[in-house]
Amino acid sequence: MKGALRETTPVYDGDLFSEEAILDPYERYREMRNLGPVVWVARQEIFALPRYEQVRAALGDAKSFVSGCGVALNDFTNQAQQGTTLASDGEEHRNQRSIVAHGLNPHALRGMRESVEKLARELVDGALESEAFDAIEALAQEMPLQVVPDLLGWEEEVRPHLLSWAEAAFDTSGPLSPRNEAKLPAVGELIEYATTVSRERRVAPKGLGAKIIEAADEGRIEHERCPALMLDFLGPSLDTTASALGAALYLFATRPEQWQKIRENHSLIPNAINEVVRWQSPVRFFTRVAPSDIEIAGTTVSGGARLLLMFASANRDERAWDRPDDFDVERENVSRQVGFGYGVHACAGQGLSRLEMGALLNELVGRVERIELTGEPAVGVNSIIRAFESLPIRLVAA
Ligand code: HEM
Repeated sequence: MKGALRETTPVYDGDLFSEEAILDPYERYREMRNLGPVVWVARQEIFALPRYEQVRAALGDAKSFVSGCGVALNDFTNQAQQGTTLASDGEEHRNQRSIVAHGLNPHALRGMRESVEKLARELVDGALESEAFDAIEALAQEMPLQVVPDLLGWEEEVRPHLLSWAEAAFDTSGPLSPRNEAKLPAVGELIEYATTVSRERRVAPKGLGAKIIEAADEGRIEHERCPALMLDFLGPSLDTTASALGAALYLFATRPEQWQKIRENHSLIPNAINEVVRWQSPVRFFTRVAPSDIEIAGTTVSGGARLLLMFASANRDERAWDRPDDFDVERENVSRQVGFGYGVHACAGQGLSRLEMGALLNELVGRVERIELTGEPAVGVNSIIRAFESLPIRLVAA
C-alpha cells in the first residue's frame, strides 16, 4: 500500500469486480460510502472515493489528481493509454483536447442535428413496425453506430468490430483477471487499427479522424501521437451512449409515470437525459494518481498512490441526492451529476451523446404511448461500463 494513515482508513474487503458485484453493485457502493469518504480497497490495493463530494472535488483538481499515469486499474492498460487525451495532463492535455473536442463543439453539432433527427425517425419507424424486439441492438446501439463512425470517418469494414473492441477496452481497464484477459487480443486489434489508419491515413477526408492527421501535418501534435488520439474516439464513443440509451428505455418501460411526464412536457427531456446518466452512470469509475501527499477529508494519501473515483457511487450518494435510487425526470439540479465526469477531463463527446439521446427520445415521446418490457433484461459483465446487453421491449403506438 502506498500509504495513508492505514490504521484510520476504513478497509473494504469485498471484491468490487466479481461477476456478482458487477451485476448487483449498489449495496456494495452504499456499504463503501458508509465506511467513509476515503476507503482502502484491499483486493485491488487502491484507495477509493465512494462519495459525491470527494469525487467531484478530485475531478475539479487536476493538479492534485493526475491522469497522465493512466486512468485504468492495471499497468498494462495504463501503459496502453499513454498519449491519449484521457490520460494526459496540463498543457499537453489542453492542446490535445482542443484537437479532439473541436469537431464535437456546439457549432459542429448544430450541423448534424437534422441528420440525427432523421435517423431517429427511421429507427422509430422500424421499431413501431416490429412486434417485440431487442431495444439494445435495434435502438440503443444502432443510433451511435449509425452516427459516430461517419462523423469520425472510419471505414466500412471496421464497423462490425467497433462495439466489441470498445467493450473489451473498457473491460480491460479494470483489474485484470482470467475473465477479462481473454479480451486483450481484441484490445490489441483496436490499437493495431488506430496505428494503421494513422500511418496509412485511412480516414474519410472530412471526418474527425482526418482532423487529427491534419493537426499533425500542421505541427500541432507529433505524428506519433495520432494513434492515441484516434483511440480517444474509438474507445469511448459508442457503448457509453448505447448504455445510456438502453438505460433510458429500461427506465421508461419500468416507470410509466415518468414516461407520461416527458410525453406531457417535452421540455423535460434534457433534464431526463442528465437523470438517466446519473442513475445509470455508464462509466462506473476511472482512476487518478496523487503526485504528492494530499489530505482528503482527514485522510492523508501519500504521493504516488492511485485512487478509484467512483462516479456511479457518487451519483447514488444519499449525502448528495434526495432518494438517490429513484429515477425522477423532474429532479432538481441534476446537471451536477458526474456521469460525464467533471472539470478539465469532462466528457468531450457529451454534446454528441445528448444530441443522439435527445433526438431518439423526442421522436419516441411524440409517437409512443407506452414502452413495455416483454422479457427479462440482461446486464453485461464489464469492469467499467454498466450497460444492458439485452432489453426485450414492445412499443405501443400513441
Ligand atoms: C453517455 C455517453 C458518455 C458517457 C457517460 C461518457 C463518460 C465519460 C467520462 C466519465 C469521462 C471522463 C473521464 C475522466 O475524467 O477520466 C469522459 C471523457 C471523454 N469522453 Fe466520454 N462519455 C460518453 C460519450 C462520449 C462520446 C460520444 C465521445 C466521442 C465522440 C466521448 C469522448 C470522450 C473523450 C475524448 C474523453 C476524454 C476527455 C478528456 O480527457 O479531456 N465520450 N467520458
